[in-house]
Amino acid sequence: MPTTIIVGTQWGDEGKGRIVDYFAAQADLIARYNGGDNAGHTVKAEGLELGLHLVPSGILYPDKLCLIGAGTVVNPLSLLKEMEMLQGYGVDVSPARLKLAAGAHLILPTHRAMDGASETQRGKEALGTTGRGIGPSYADKARRVGLRAGQMHDPGTFAEAVGALVEAHNERLVRLYGLQAQPVDDIVNQMRKAAETLAPHLVDGASLVGEALAQGKHVLCEGAQGTLLDLNLGTYPYVTSSSPLSGGALAGLGIGPKEVTRVVGVAKAYTTRVGAGPFPTELDDDTGERMRQVGHEYGVTTGRSRRCGWLDTVILRYAAQVNGLTDIALTKLDVLSGIPVLRIAVAYDVDGERHERFPAEWGAEILEKCHPIYEELPGWEEDISEIRRREDLPQNALAYVTRIEALTGIPATFTSVGPKREAMIVNET
Ligand code: IMP
Repeated sequence: MPTTIIVGTQWGDEGKGRIVDYFAAQADLIARYNGGDNAGHTVKAEGLELGLHLVPSGILYPDKLCLIGAGTVVNPLSLLKEMEMLQGYGVDVSPARLKLAAGAHLILPTHRAMDGASETQRGKEALGTTGRGIGPSYADKARRVGLRAGQMHDPGTFAEAVGALVEAHNERLVRLYGLQAQPVDDIVNQMRKAAETLAPHLVDGASLVGEALAQGKHVLCEGAQGTLLDLNLGTYPYVTSSSPLSGGALAGLGIGPKEVTRVVGVAKAYTTRVGAGPFPTELDDDTGERMRQVGHEYGVTTGRSRRCGWLDTVILRYAAQVNGLTDIALTKLDVLSGIPVLRIAVAYDVDGERHERFPAEWGAEILEKCHPIYEELPGWEEDISEIRRREDLPQNALAYVTRIEALTGIPATFTSVGPKREAMIVNET
């Protein structure tokens, strides 16, 4: 019966893997609902530090069922690589544990090539995508010409469908982008081989989730990216091509709203963003650099350095509304230790007027004009990474957390204070 959704409240990289890993302990089925291998979660557990891109973070618990849902786009080659990596660490990724929804769409090498080509063509207007072919694969899905994972069930027709799609992509690569065609036979063979291994993992994802819910099992929905990268309600066009929102979990997995018991919004204690696009509280100074160094703000997927800035509660209030958050999980609070004065954006100044709400739908030009109005709070010096009870936090750290709660109206039930699995303060009431 219980369904918990874990969503990112900012531009991704909030540390969702950590929180999913925490909730996975009580879940039966962990299901990824959007995106593809553009995501990167680092999970540290039992002496292991694993970078996951597609496989739900719950895979590290031996008794959990994991699903890659219909709302995702899956590069079969990346998935196989990740499965091999996990097997190398002794993690069971057999079809009994790891399921792939037949409705998920596939990413081919030609999708990746088109992603890169379209970014090059945009020049200075490039979006800064991860180059994983995410946009082109979702575009094929929306154009209703995409390949679905379920087609891997029938090797003969699958190979034909792959060949036809690669040829169509090649035409575009040559004609629109002036690039070389990709080798059709090689891609078909690669995909055919991948399909042999992946076919036993295929399931009807919505049925699997529906049955789990009917049996009273706890379903944990794992989001990738974050609210502001949402295709509908994010900072378009600097967004990804899926819906990382809680609503994306319902549509991407086949769950009705009545089933949802908890929506946990993961928020980094400051803000980061990779790729291009407006970022009102960005810091182009030593404090931003300090956050990057101390917080290891480099992408798990691309290694790109992340842009860093102050916490923005205009964004968090927006995330609270559009996702229906019940809780906040505040991550990386420890990274702020040692910064003498902290700033929190509480509103924006736009052409001399105060705005309390995040104007996502008005697009990048309006966002460029949003100048944060800050509140200042005193920082703390202490190392907080060993603290496990909220009341043991230094007074200023506690004041920072409670101010965020007051500004968003959402309880910060979880606060992570260090990279280790157990470095988490839980304040369930
Ligand atoms: P795409 O998802 O590769 O098409 O990239 C579109 C935008 O989303 C770019 O700004 C990427 O940097 C951003 N993005 C995609 N995945 C992630 C993620 O997991 N974390 C942070 N940003 C991401």
